[in-house]
Amino acid sequence: MSPKTKNQKPKTNIDFANLQLQHEMYKDEIEEAILKVARNCNFIMGNEVQELEKNLEEFTGAKYAISCSSGTDALLLAMMALDIKPGDEVITTPFTFIATAETIALLGATPVFVDIDEKTYNIDPAKIEAAITPKTKAIILVSLYGQPADIDAIQIIVDKTLKTKNQKLYTIIDGAQSFGSTYKGKTDSNLGDISCTSFFPAKPLGCYGDGGAVFTNNYELAEKMKSLRVHGQTKRYYHKYIGMGGRLDTIQAAVLNVKLKHYKKDLALRQEVAQKYSVSLSDQCESKGIILPTLTPNTTSAWAQYSIRVKNREELQEKLKNLGIPTAVHYPLPLHLQECFGYLGYKKGDFPISEMVANEIISLPMNPYVSDEEIEYIVENL
Ligand SMILES: Cc1ncc(COP(=O)(O)O)c(C=O)c1O
Repeated sequence: MSPKTKNQKPKTNIDFANLQLQHEMYKDEIEEAILKVARNCNFIMGNEVQELEKNLEEFTGAKYAISCSSGTDALLLAMMALDIKPGDEVITTPFTFIATAETIALLGATPVFVDIDEKTYNIDPAKIEAAITPKTKAIILVSLYGQPADIDAIQIIVDKTLKTKNQKLYTIIDGAQSFGSTYKGKTDSNLGDISCTSFFPAKPLGCYGDGGAVFTNNYELAEKMKSLRVHGQTKRYYHKYIGMGGRLDTIQAAVLNVKLKHYKKDLALRQEVAQKYSVSLSDQCESKGIILPTLTPNTTSAWAQYSIRVKNREELQEKLKNLGIPTAVHYPLPLHLQECFGYLGYKKGDFPISEMVANEIISLPMNPYVSDEEIEYIVENL
């Protein structure tokens, strides 16, 4: 990043995710990579896809990386590989994007919600045990806003359940927002039985359309997910499983191969932006009634979002909008209160922390290129 870009004057309209500037930064390499695929016409499962999977394995430390068509399909592939089916229960948090629980329901299983921790906004391990029943098959840990959940605390519960009830619980990481984040030094793609991510354009590592990946250290699960991604086939036109059309396009893989090369730097810039927000806001948050994001000591975040809590959210959003500062709300209504999950029978008050956070949370512009002047301008106007 040139100092000129980093110190640019605040624009009238600050960009929330600034995908345009990112394209500008890597334009030559990315456009060349896309053209190469177009010229070779290897649109499906071209060399770039295998190359990307190798690069992802190297980057994450996970033994097997399998690219797929989206973060949603990554969750589906993970649960299909674990044989999650009607009658099974899968524990997760209600304070996440719909896809986390929607995919459980799509497979005919039942999402069972557990409230979040008030500081990290991730699933509260202390509340998981009470939600386990003989039907529980897996726990999906969402790394919300980019920060991994406390998997060690959850592994203790998994081990205890196996020992005392002879019941195996799988852990799935929904790392759609957290590619490149770490927990005790390991990337969150290298945690759990299967880890999933999304390459949706606005994610920390985004492609130029839909994309995702699943990761595992288990050979059998890896082979099964590879097969499930291509309609469950093991050999052309021979289908062992009911699978799906879940491949990543070669063009997306080509874009990701370029962006992954620069990703460590981009991630460091995101972390720098988050740090600057936190430092600038720290001495004002008490007087302004702002709650800053909390990063636990064992984790690093990919900072998909920089989200703060305020009491007067709608008023603040309107004011910031008029000043050319875009904001977003991730997410305004917890999943247990969504109409589509009415059949689960939850009601208001069931998950008080999720409900409180959903009422107060607001995300500020976050991308590697938010300039110092922009941060100053945003903080001044909060
Ligand atoms: C937590 C979470 N899970 C899953 C997804 C789904 O990813 P995709 O949009 O690539 O299907 C998202 C995307 O927003 C997400 O934030």
